[in-house]
Amino acid sequence: MNTPCPPVNFVVNGEPVRVSVPPMKRLLDVLREDLHLTGTKEGCGEGECGSCTVRIDGELVNSCMVPVLQAQGARIETVEGLERHGELHPLQKAFLACGGAQCGICTPGMLMAATHLLAQNPNPTIAEIREGLAGNLCRCTGFIRIFDSVIASIAENSAASIGQESNAR
Ligand code: FES
Ligand code: FES
Repeated sequence: MNTPCPPVNFVVNGEPVRVSVPPMKRLLDVLREDLHLTGTKEGCGEGECGSCTVRIDGELVNSCMVPVLQAQGARIETVEGLERHGELHPLQKAFLACGGAQCGICTPGMLMAATHLLAQNPNPTIAEIREGLAGNLCRCTGFIRIFDSVIASIAENSAASIGQESNAR
């Protein structure tokens, strides 16, 4: 008879979750198979491509390389958490508008890496954007449209802030 695994408790996109799965099951698979959060994608499965990127306690992590037991008590953010009140995040809108997503396999990881970058540095230079997304590979876009998407999102945010300031006067 199999011994039942003790549950692992963590928070995903603000919601507490509890899963009873083998402790070495990859976080990527737990997210997709057990929690049905299929936005996070598998590319290489070897920690090389960044398609499976999520944030754990505010740090970017390749979820294909993390056994779920390491998520015990952690706060995890996935691409599903970017939407607010049913509306796409400005970065998601910019990726759509600028052609930053083609086949889409890299896109959730790119979005998480870009979100992380902008949280730390709201006005990155192009060199800083390249560096911030360096752990994420894309086979389709040649990267330029992805960088353009991030730049467009920054411009949109700046315009929105200026609008809010003018309205407040
Ligand atoms: Fe995890 Fe490629 S699928 S890094
Ligand atoms: Fe296809 Fe990036 S859009 S891998």
